[in-house]
Amino acid sequence: MMRLDYWLQDTMVPWQQYQPKISEIHHKLNHKEDAYTGWMDWPARVEDTLVQEILSAADEIRSKCTALVVIGIGGSYLGAKACIELLQSPFYNEYYAGKQQRPRIYFAGHHLSSIFYQELLDRLNDEEVCVCVISKSGTTLEPSIVFDLMRTYLRERYGVAEAANRIYAITDAEKGTLRAEADEQGYKTFVVPDDIGGRYSVLTPVGLLPIAVAGIDIVSMLQGAKQAMEAYNQEDLGQNICYQYGVLRNLLQEQGKVIEIFEVYEGRLRYFTEWLKQLFGESECKDGKGVIPMSLQMSTDLHSMGQFLQDGRQIFFETVLTVENIRKDVSLEHCSMAGKATSMHMLNQIVEESARKAHLENHTPNIRLTISELSARSFGYMVYFFEKACAVSCYLTGVAPFDQSGVEAYKKNIKAAIKED
Ligand code: PA5
Repeated sequence: MMRLDYWLQDTMVPWQQYQPKISEIHHKLNHKEDAYTGWMDWPARVEDTLVQEILSAADEIRSKCTALVVIGIGGSYLGAKACIELLQSPFYNEYYAGKQQRPRIYFAGHHLSSIFYQELLDRLNDEEVCVCVISKSGTTLEPSIVFDLMRTYLRERYGVAEAANRIYAITDAEKGTLRAEADEQGYKTFVVPDDIGGRYSVLTPVGLLPIAVAGIDIVSMLQGAKQAMEAYNQEDLGQNICYQYGVLRNLLQEQGKVIEIFEVYEGRLRYFTEWLKQLFGESECKDGKGVIPMSLQMSTDLHSMGQFLQDGRQIFFETVLTVENIRKDVSLEHCSMAGKATSMHMLNQIVEESARKAHLENHTPNIRLTISELSARSFGYMVYFFEKACAVSCYLTGVAPFDQSGVEAYKKNIKAAIKED
């Protein structure tokens, strides 16, 4: 389902030298030696009853509302947003949601733009509204503030009891103010597993509930993740492209290529690269180490960043995520400008290949990860692939993958700044 190709010019990859370290990491992960490694076997241990409960909650939400506001930030929204953008139409909210009799989905609580929230509340007046609030800690500033706003809106519009009926909370089993409120008010709740951190949580209720509401097949998605879990549990580096990708990142980092630019030529993968940025950035960039993840959407960004890619400071490598088969292709047979490219997808692939050739002339290392198709199954598969590759990369870099102490400093400042005298 996934293929790895790479072009490193004159560099030979010392695979054999990496094998002992990879074996050590392989065992460390399989024995779940670190905390927050519950994602490792989650696709095999997620219970059917939980999946069924999520599917019925999604049905219930669909029957109650025409707009679902999903509140969350970081790992509590990026995965669901990436999946819905990947598998639903870019015109989902404005057209297909109505046609498919599913709620429009508005993501909120991941920023503090007052203009956005005023306009969102205005927009919601024409809809029947439900809210899904997602926060593992239950105390994160942005989602807490926006949930406060939405709770007030729902209570004013529907009354306290009906508002509670329209709120779905995904949070810790016991801790946090959101858990306390949900229990007190009787919201329908789902639990974020204790042993899975935010950026690794998309295949838990955190991602599954909003994704199911959008009509995406979460059962297939989990099957795809399980398939990847089995495929990438080979200790032998020669057999495991997930480990190989981790090694390539490490080798390039050692050579001073400290930026990884994720590039997508299929626009639907754009938010997937946002999810990747959090996964790698928060996991690996610490203790003054790690590869900085960036992203570009092609061919759009070739017209803004193409100069840098061709001729800029050589401190980066490119990782292109590409899709082999596209379900809806556009014929270009009668378009003379397209030459021998008979379809839009074919032309897109030619542009990708041409850019790669040009960048290789400048010795920019290039990694290509090809996914066979865009589907719920392949989404689950890719998520697992990158989660594991990220953990492996971090261990090779020599940093702890599953903490993020660096994000606490600014949060402390905010707390001090808003503290009432
Ligand atoms: O990966 C992480 O841990 C973070 O990005 C969190 O997901 C993010 O800060 C949201 O946290 P919470 O779900 O506790 O509101």
